[in-house]
Amino acid sequence: EDNEEMGEEYLFKIVLIGDSAVGKSNLLSRFARNEFDANTKATIGVEFQTQVVEIDGKEVKAQIWDTAGQERFRAVTSAYYRGAVGALVVYDISRRSTFESIKRWLEELSTSCDTAVARMLVGNKCDLENIREVSTEEGKSFAEEEGLFFMETSALDATNVQTAFEIVIREIY
Ligand code: GTP
Ligand code: MG
Repeated sequence: EDNEEMGEEYLFKIVLIGDSAVGKSNLLSRFARNEFDANTKATIGVEFQTQVVEIDGKEVKAQIWDTAGQERFRAVTSAYYRGAVGALVVYDISRRSTFESIKRWLEELSTSCDTAVARMLVGNKCDLENIREVSTEEGKSFAEEEGLFFMETSALDATNVQTAFEIVIREIY
């Protein structure tokens, strides 16, 4: 077996959740391919990408799942969450309504996953400082209350994208 020749191997499923247009698909494309698309279409159904990350000299495979924020485009919820060990729960710092939805996403996550999932609250689009509607402090303190990791990211300029995924992968590993 190839896997045995290569030594131990790990495959972790991580899910991206959050309202439509918060930037989930671009966080994934930035992380997996170092790409950003200013004109992405809303995701329909489910997509995933496998990315190899090196942690403490070991190869870790992260299988990152991305689905639609829009209810009407979402696939069967239980299948999406099945086997997930990590989650990035994303809002857009320039749209308060997406931050207010976080509670609902966390509820869905906890009812759909039975195991302990490493959870990171992600305030994306931190490049949009001039139109910010959710302060860093507010994001941070909400994350503390809920026991989540917290990071502000920008898929556009790549700020913290690698770090956000790696913290979750490290926590699982
Ligand atoms: P759904 O698939 O509908 O759930 O949306 P999504 O969360 O996958 O959002 P998507 O990645 O498609 O991004 C929505 C829009 O926001 C696109 O126009 C992106 O170019 C833009 N966008 C994503 N990330 C950033 C970011 O960090 N900064 C800025 N300024 N724009 C971003
Ligand atoms: Mg998408």
